[in-house]
Amino acid sequence: MLICRRIAELDRALSDWRRAGESVGLVTTMGALHAGHMALVAAARADHARVVATIFVNPTQFGDPKDLETYPRTEAEDLAMLKAAGVDAVLIPDASEIYPEGDETIVETTRLAGLFHGAVRPGHFRGVATVVCKLLNIAGPDAAYFGEKDYQQLAVIRRMVTDLHMKVRIVGVPTVREADGLAMSSRNVRLTPEDRSAAPVLSRALEAAAGERDVAAMEATIRRVVGEEPRATLKGLDIVRADTFTPAEGPLTAPVGIMISAQFGDVLLIDQREVSP
Ligand code: PAF
Repeated sequence: MLICRRIAELDRALSDWRRAGESVGLVTTMGALHAGHMALVAAARADHARVVATIFVNPTQFGDPKDLETYPRTEAEDLAMLKAAGVDAVLIPDASEIYPEGDETIVETTRLAGLFHGAVRPGHFRGVATVVCKLLNIAGPDAAYFGEKDYQQLAVIRRMVTDLHMKVRIVGVPTVREADGLAMSSRNVRLTPEDRSAAPVLSRALEAAAGERDVAAMEATIRRVVGEEPRATLKGLDIVRADTFTPAEGPLTAPVGIMISAQFGDVLLIDQREVSP
């Protein structure tokens, strides 16, 4: 596995592969890899001759500097996992490579970025869209793989790729969960043991809501189930039409996406579930 600290090193490998007519799948990550990331890698591995992964803790998508500072960094373990999964090249750039001196260009999905999770974390989706645009341009993959857990992130990336006529296929990969239902996340390691035990309340709430046939009933069920867990503070609850990403209401007549976020101590966790009529 090629480990590239500079974009130019990856460029050389990519041109060789392109010359040989090999297709490339891309998995972008911020490191601290877990089974959720490895599902993205496995999906890319199954579809492409070459798989490129990136590890870059993107400063522009963090609102709170403390969150950026404490974001887990586990490079040696990450590289071992990527190598074992058959990744061909990993790009681990410095921030100065991704944001060169004088950098002033941003990418923003103007409606989506300010809604839902974006309203709770201003600037977050601008940072995500900007860095994903840069990483897609750097690797020029045939397809890029993103987790469905980050439901709004996936919608933002799909919108950006459509709007900017980017020649890449975006593939959503289902959420991977712990045995007790907790969605895999790099943030889970920061939970105290007590909060770790409480955190599966999010998937229980989504499961209970999926049994309802009306959007108001779904919301009420989620508030009730999360409200029963004293360690969880519900921060965001949005139910959107899966096709338009606009707020859903009334009886369930088309697929909806339920997005929730909750605070456990100083860790914000998110989860998501799509429900069809
Ligand atoms: O989902 C993530 O890990 C990040 O938001 C991403 C897509 C790698 C951009 O920094």
